Amino acid sequence: MKAIELKHISKSFGSIVANDDISFSVEKGEVLALLGENGSGKTTLMNILSGIYYPDAGEIFVDEKPVRIRSPKDAFDLKIGMVHQHFKLINDFTAMENIVLGTTAETMEEARRSVQAICEKYGFELDLDRRVADMNVSEKQTLEIVKTIYRGAEILILDEPTSVLTPQEIRKLFAVIRNMKADHKSVIIITHKLNEVLEISDKVTILRKGKYIATLNTAEADVQKLTELMVGEKVQLDICRDAIEDKALRLQVRHLSVKNSEGHLAVDDASFDLYSSEILGIAGISNCGQKELLEAIMGLQKAEKGSSVIYYSTAHGTHELVGLSTKEIISYGLHLAFVPEDRLGMGLIGNFGMTDNVMLKRYKKGNGPFLHRNKPRQQAEMIRENLSVVTPDLEYPVRRLSGGNVQKVLVGREITAKPTVLMTAYAVRGLDINTSYAIYDLLNEQKKKGVAVIFVGEDLDVLLALCDRVMVLCSGRINGILDARKTNKEEMGLLMSHLKEGDENAHHQE
Ligand SMILES: Nc1ncnc2c1ncn2[C@@H]1O[C@H](COP(=O)(O)OP(=O)(O)OP(=O)(O)O)[C@@H](O)[C@H]1O
Ligand SMILES: [Mg+2]
Repeated sequence: MKAIELKHISKSFGSIVANDDISFSVEKGEVLALLGENGSGKTTLMNILSGIYYPDAGEIFVDEKPVRIRSPKDAFDLKIGMVHQHFKLINDFTAMENIVLGTTAETMEEARRSVQAICEKYGFELDLDRRVADMNVSEKQTLEIVKTIYRGAEILILDEPTSVLTPQEIRKLFAVIRNMKADHKSVIIITHKLNEVLEISDKVTILRKGKYIATLNTAEADVQKLTELMVGEKVQLDICRDAIEDKALRLQVRHLSVKNSEGHLAVDDASFDLYSSEILGIAGISNCGQKELLEAIMGLQKAEKGSSVIYYSTAHGTHELVGLSTKEIISYGLHLAFVPEDRLGMGLIGNFGMTDNVMLKRYKKGNGPFLHRNKPRQQAEMIRENLSVVTPDLEYPVRRLSGGNVQKVLVGREITAKPTVLMTAYAVRGLDINTSYAIYDLLNEQKKKGVAVIFVGEDLDVLLALCDRVMVLCSGRINGILDARKTNKEEMGLLMSHLKEGDENAHHQE
């Protein structure tokens, strides 16, 4: 029996057709993956099902009866629950308070028992008395899902739930999804990671540029086939890695330590070298010091005085970076593109178009009050072309772009800024597969030009294929620096999870 069916759904924003005549259905007890490139209309379509947008045309059926969904409350009454990319929780409330907020059916004690029963049944681990402000992303996401189930959701929509989770957290989420399926609930999941689609879904529906393309049984799908349906043509999914030519020492990091806000060492005595014309990967589970390390190099976090030294060298001389302002460090040619978990606060201004966002960075170079828009416009055009940013024009407010396209602007801006040291963290988080490969190509191009590249990534296969060396962090320490051509996932995984004991030589390489 069909849990939900869409017939001929269309939705435009001004001249942009986000959804164009889309029809498909999801059975009870079925997991459907919704797949498509950035900006193909996935979130818009799911927002229609959850009552945030009303379609311009088309019909929706729930339990095979026609329905109208005019508000989130209508969706909720029809037992449709959506977990958005940006969570909608109240920070000062506990998990339990967020769950019951606005519901009246039960007393607090009854509600707590019901919620505990849900957690047990589906395998959620959730501290009901914890304040949202004290939770990490995975806990917040668990809370959002428990909340929607408590409120009776039979159809659960998850918009890119895994892009912010660690592999262990993803495994837990998938176990929960399987339990929901066994309980005859329906799940629609959006993800850009094709191995996840193949692992968790029963069916895959593919959208391309707002149009419905196909629905496949997952059993008959593979990565190549899905990519081609998404992109509309044959694509080459290889990451090239050229040999390093003429490497020169760029950064010498010695005994770098960084304390976090609680006074613990987030980076603990890190020493490593970075060369021009190489891509140095950084691997590690989440929050093991990647962010603090990169931010300390950029002068965005304070390196511990006394021990920490960072030398930056070019043909023209060597400079000590510790103690310099971020502005000075940028003027030496160091750039950082960090894509945070919530993807907000990425250093872009939502109301500005691409050109102005590119300019934000450039005019700091001291071009005076009379700014030329030609250069930034060319740079913006380059980003749009190289990364296929879906935008009507370069002045269109970036907040109106789809999640992935906003991110392309951020990453593209740093790459096109002609850096000497380019650091990227989670550059492909939330990007579709084709664009991810375009980013890898761009990084390779930078390497060829002699840029020293640091690539913080989550996908071990990509780290192995793209990087020349991989530095593994574990609890803020450098737990090993590996030759990416010679190591493997097992070795990396082990170094990510177990600190080598008393190994003072862990810093040395090659
Ligand atoms: N509120 C809005 N106003 C104007 N345009 C919008 C709005 N919401 C979405 N769009 C446009 O509709 C198109 C589809 O966007 P949508 O967010 O649905 O894509 P998506 O498939 O979810 O992409 P991603 O994988 O990047 O999240 C995009 O071109 C986007 O710019
Ligand atoms: Mg989206």
